[in-house]
Amino acid sequence: KIEKSLRPQSLEEYIGQKKAKDNLKVYIEAAKQRNEALDHVLFYGPPGLGKTTLAGIIAIEMNVNIKVTSGPAIAKPGEMAAILNNLQEGDLLFVDEIHRLNRQVEEVLYPAMEDYAIDIMIGKGSSARSIRLDLPQFTLVGATTRAGLLTAPLRDRFGVIHRLEFYELDELETIIIRSAEVLGVEIDSDGALEIARRSRGTPRLANRLLKRVRDFAQVKYDGVISEKVARLALDLLDVDKMGLDYIDRTILLTMIEKFNGGPIGLDSLAAAIGEDAGTIEDVYEPFLIKNGFIHRTPRGRVVTEGTYRHFGLTFKES
Ligand code: ADE
Repeated sequence: KIEKSLRPQSLEEYIGQKKAKDNLKVYIEAAKQRNEALDHVLFYGPPGLGKTTLAGIIAIEMNVNIKVTSGPAIAKPGEMAAILNNLQEGDLLFVDEIHRLNRQVEEVLYPAMEDYAIDIMIGKGSSARSIRLDLPQFTLVGATTRAGLLTAPLRDRFGVIHRLEFYELDELETIIIRSAEVLGVEIDSDGALEIARRSRGTPRLANRLLKRVRDFAQVKYDGVISEKVARLALDLLDVDKMGLDYIDRTILLTMIEKFNGGPIGLDSLAAAIGEDAGTIEDVYEPFLIKNGFIHRTPRGRVVTEGTYRHFGLTFKES
């Protein structure tokens, strides 16, 4: 599937996240030299920045199989024990949304991560006893939107923890040009830059917008993505000049119009716009904060003067 080939297959090909990449390169090489599994890795940060992609690349670079699952997919401790027990020597287990594992399932991971073993309860009541089952060496790669959502005992068992950052414009431009090549669509650098500007620092969004712009270029224009074609298509897609989408704008305009710019608590804001508080906090807010649309105060979120300006409104000091 096309989706697959848009993902880079090696650290060499992977653009951006220089710090994570440089460090991982060293850890991978060291583990390979020692003929050991790589230590457990935790990636955190907003969605779409490459956590899953990096897990896949680690498996390729380590020359091991990857098994993919997610926090909400594992309901019972026995399911986690079965997954762990089926791993081969050196395998990588990727657990997306790892903060959503329930407590009993999470507890299976503690001895697995620390000693490559699971403790299985046998029998009931006074005759119950636990036996320890050895596992192959493996690498757990966990992904979460916020490290703060993990329990301390789980977080402490990761040897490597990386926060993924929003991408710079030039990095996104390079990713878009690479993806256009994979998709076989012609694009010029101004076209790529225009898509990059509106991608909220996020490669997943950049690739999604690229595909939609390609559709417009193909059907309405001559198939080539220029700055003009990108701009017209993105306007139709309701992504504004700063990359804000409909929900971003609803968040900001609600804060301005209903709450006089804030301060407003997360839950009141969520209720006012009918969006889940966790989604606002993990998905929307990081970009809005990083780009100076919102800031956090002890009394709640406030919009900035720049936000008023972005919407062509006059800022009233409260
Ligand atoms: N496609 C999506 N994310 C990418 C990245 N970080 N580098 C290269 N291609 C990508």
